[in-house]
Amino acid sequence: MSLPQGLFISFEGIDGAGKSTHIDAIAQAFSAQGRQVVLTREPGGTPLAEKLRELVLNDPMDPLSEALLMFAARRDHLVNVIEPALAAGAVVLCDRFTDATFAYQGHGRGFDLSVLTTLEQWVQGRTHGGLRQPDLTIWFDLPAAVAAQRLATARVPDRFEAQPQAFFERVAQGYAARAAAEPARFARIAADQAREQVAQAVREAFVQRGWLAQP
Ligand code: TYD
Repeated sequence: MSLPQGLFISFEGIDGAGKSTHIDAIAQAFSAQGRQVVLTREPGGTPLAEKLRELVLNDPMDPLSEALLMFAARRDHLVNVIEPALAAGAVVLCDRFTDATFAYQGHGRGFDLSVLTTLEQWVQGRTHGGLRQPDLTIWFDLPAAVAAQRLATARVPDRFEAQPQAFFERVAQGYAARAAAEPARFARIAADQAREQVAQAVREAFVQRGWLAQP
């Protein structure tokens, strides 16, 4: 019997957009259909990348170091987790991927987008088949002002969560720019609605593509 085709899905949005519960629901839905699911996150997903995550979320550093650490973590994650899982036919659900680097380091911090594009090619380039990108990116789109209200009651903020609203406005614009450049890869979810409606919209993105059955 041939393996099912692997699927690579990323979930994106500014801090406070509420990704986590929806990722869990999609993981359960794929598992219920008998698919092998790998639930992972960036920065992180391997022992080395989780160490890099601790550093990049907490230690002060300049924007180039920040971008390099994000991509170093990504490389380790791709090589050791994502590519093997896809080769084995798994559904990889990844909480953030490279769009976050363009949105946060590029648009948020103002770091040179062309350098990020070069790093993206180095890290995600493959001998055959061009750049590794998600098959689908679920983008939780939320106004920065709403996200700021949600974050105000959240736990102790990390280096990104502690940024002012203007930073998140730029990050949100960064996601919008990435989505506009690759509309077929992105499913935009209006995250400023009741959780149940958001959950339905997320599910619908998978149903439309024939990857999940109607609930
Ligand atoms: P997040 O998914 O928000 O983790 P948690 O829900 O545990 O806080 O991700 C951590 C932070 O890392 C988030 O603020 C966005 C940031 N980030 C970047 O700045 N660049 C990147 O490339 C990635 C993957 C994340």
